[in-house]
Amino acid sequence: MKAIIPTAGQGTRLYPHTHTKPKPMVRLAGRPILGHILESFTRTPVEEVVLVIGGPMKSQVVEYANSEYGTEFDFSFVEQASPEGLGHSIYQADPEISDEPVVIALGDMIFENGYSTFLEKDQSDRLDGLIGVKPVTEPQHYGVVDIDSDGIISSLVEKPDDPPSDLAISGVYIVHDSVALFDALDHLVSNGIRGAGNEYQLTDALQIMIDEGCQLGTFEVEEWYDCGRPDTLLEANRVCLDKVPISSDCDCQQSAIVEPVDIGENVDLSNCVIGPHVSIDDGARINNSIVQDSIVGRNSQLTNINIKSSIVGDNTEVVGNSQQLNVGDNSVVENL
Ligand code: G1P
Repeated sequence: MKAIIPTAGQGTRLYPHTHTKPKPMVRLAGRPILGHILESFTRTPVEEVVLVIGGPMKSQVVEYANSEYGTEFDFSFVEQASPEGLGHSIYQADPEISDEPVVIALGDMIFENGYSTFLEKDQSDRLDGLIGVKPVTEPQHYGVVDIDSDGIISSLVEKPDDPPSDLAISGVYIVHDSVALFDALDHLVSNGIRGAGNEYQLTDALQIMIDEGCQLGTFEVEEWYDCGRPDTLLEANRVCLDKVPISSDCDCQQSAIVEPVDIGENVDLSNCVIGPHVSIDDGARINNSIVQDSIVGRNSQLTNINIKSSIVGDNTEVVGNSQQLNVGDNSVVENL
């Protein structure tokens, strides 16, 4: 089975971090979001991965995938030249997919138990596709499915004002009839049929598959973490740190580490209290500070601060009495 991971979205809700890196390259709990997704695919039958890349920072995705997972997966990269929606993004993968089944995994979504359980569920199912769903309290913010009494999807609609159910599309799709999917996407794009947000929607293509006679079922996902916002990114960081024991082999001088934490290589801590739920990337230096529930980027320097629920980018220097921060890469914040 092949996987398609769209990574070309702009990630505007995660500015300023996505000014300098694609959203799937934003790091939490020891690796970028994309790394968590690929890591989870190593425990599945997926061997080939199509990454849909785009935008001026796309090379970061290519370099990371090849250098960290190049021996695990056979990667192909296709470019989405203009941001015209999720359906348009998946459509770019068409030349890489023949008539084999595909799993589509959104590049900003982390599932608590990864993708292996979804693909195991799929093995007992012979429908044309299966979509991961979860009941939510505000379905109007998602794609929404309606199912009939046999559990087959009768309709799907993207971000409806008047949702037909509370079952939100969660961002994992297993499609057996990939020919029907790409035919449907081709129909949308070739005819300029845009949907919600004036974009080509994957949800609309799935509706066309149903209209053409395909049978799509659902499976319920457990906890999911849309890493596309600062608060949900920090939540995903907490959950991943709680699940995976990570070593914290650092140069700690007169510092207390409150697990769980992830501390990268060549991190220098002195006179600090770090944790719980803190991820610190390689080369960071933190001095005389308290850091809780936060993500600290590569080679950043924090001095005399007390922060909680904060995200600090790479190569950033913060000095002073800050309490809650969301600063991007290459910044300086001083409070002298
Ligand atoms: C996309 C899909 C939507 C799905 C959501 C899950 O929307 O179009 O159907 O419910 O992901 O996060 P987006 O979040 O890109 O607006």
